Amino acid sequence: MESNLMNLYYNTKWLNISVLFFATLVVAKLILSAGWRYNRRRSPPVVKAPIPIVGGLLRFLKGPIVLLREEYPKLGSVFTLNLVNKKITFLIGPEVSAHFFKAVETDLSQQEVYRFNVPTFGPGVVFDVDYSVRQEQFRFFTDSLRVSKLKSYVDQMVVEAQDYFSKWGDNGEVDLKHELEQLIILTASRCLLGVEVRNQLFDDVSALFHDLDSGMLPISVVFPYLPIPAHRRRDQARKKLAEIFGRIINSRKQAGKSENDMLQSFMDSKYKNGRPTTDSEVTGLLIAALFAGQHTSSITSTWTGAYLLANKKYLSAVSDEQKVIMRKHGDDVDHDILSEMEGLHRCIKEALRLHPPLIMLLRSSHSDFSVTTREGKEYDIPKGHIVATSPAFANRLPHIYKDPDTFDPDRFSAGRDEDKAAGPFSYISFGGGRHGCLGEPFAYLQIKAIWSHLLRNFELELISPFPEIDWNAMVVGVKGKVMVRYKRKQLSLE
Ligand code: HEM
Repeated sequence: MESNLMNLYYNTKWLNISVLFFATLVVAKLILSAGWRYNRRRSPPVVKAPIPIVGGLLRFLKGPIVLLREEYPKLGSVFTLNLVNKKITFLIGPEVSAHFFKAVETDLSQQEVYRFNVPTFGPGVVFDVDYSVRQEQFRFFTDSLRVSKLKSYVDQMVVEAQDYFSKWGDNGEVDLKHELEQLIILTASRCLLGVEVRNQLFDDVSALFHDLDSGMLPISVVFPYLPIPAHRRRDQARKKLAEIFGRIINSRKQAGKSENDMLQSFMDSKYKNGRPTTDSEVTGLLIAALFAGQHTSSITSTWTGAYLLANKKYLSAVSDEQKVIMRKHGDDVDHDILSEMEGLHRCIKEALRLHPPLIMLLRSSHSDFSVTTREGKEYDIPKGHIVATSPAFANRLPHIYKDPDTFDPDRFSAGRDEDKAAGPFSYISFGGGRHGCLGEPFAYLQIKAIWSHLLRNFELELISPFPEIDWNAMVVGVKGKVMVRYKRKQLSLE
């Protein structure tokens, strides 16, 4: 009897334990699946691909803007694309892109996604060094682009523009795109790389820069060291440029000479621990500056011209502005006078809103984060994703910009301020936040120096059709020629 009771006790105990065990499993499963559903609900929607595995890549290769135009209306401002072994999550618009711009490097970093620049810029600079060193090198950039430095650069920009356009005849036809490319190489070289390089430019140095440029291909983004002729020429050019800069730096040091240019500023820069920059670092930083600033500025000056010549209302507004300024300052043009050209500034800014040359900005995410869309939907983006935003797409969002495809520089005038009304990161042609462009003031000054000279001295007419966008270029610019008929004018202040 006692043993029966004992058996019953043990059986009941095991029954209880088993029931408890199964109950725990069921509850755990319920919690997990609820959580899974919860997580799934908060994951960004995923772009549908026509075929598995490489389907996402194929869609991306059709062009990121094509993808955004197709998917944004369907999926909204946050969505993920599967790129074979990587996921890329797009954050489009100021409501969801703030984290992209403000996050610290340990959360969202540039190094992995922009590493393909290393063979071009060279070793020991920018994306080849730890963030702490890169930060110091960006401090050198900031120092070299201070207002006091910009003032002397502007004087050189003005001289370059005068010299260049003095070679035009009294009238004729030119490819404006080609002309502005040439002029910007000259001014950028003079202000950034130094007078020695500027004077040698049309000998070997320009050929070396050409090789460096031609070595940056779409394939270089994925395989920067692929042994192809373009990469070999890039590497040889980088080596020869280092030798040329080495000689220039040496001769400046020997002669105890100091110039007003970025080269000098980098030569004089010191790290926090007191170490001066090496010749190789100076070369690398200058190449990085040229890559950041040359094509971006020449493309923007061409679009500005195309829009002005196609919009008589704004062409006459900026021409009148020049007359007002000339009544005040005569023929003088300097940093402060360029800063008075607010109408011209808005036209450049609007050309750049419509055509930002850097169409995609990327980061690599190292920690999970969440974003909330303007409709109030929350999404979790896990670490490991590539995170992207697109100036070319976000700058034309209709809830931020009225008639977003129309050239309307007055949208930036006081009272309308469309780029500010929706909050920060509504206008992202220069990026923003932690890694916003350090060369923005330089770029505006350079483009204004060119266009104020053209407006004052020439009557211009666009004689080719309004240009199209060259989506295939690494720095997206103008497709084909931009033919312009010019006539030198006798200046009248009337
Ligand atoms: C119209 C002309 C220009 C445009 C549209 C432009 C655009 C940009 C953009 C979009 C970024 C941010 C990249 C990112 O967030 O991933 C950037 C960064 C940068 N730009 Fe520019 N840029 C221009 C001219 C220049 C010039 C002339 C210089 C120097 C002389 C320059 C130097 C830099 C530097 C050093 C950075 C990196 C800042 C950082 O990561 O902290 N840019 N630029």
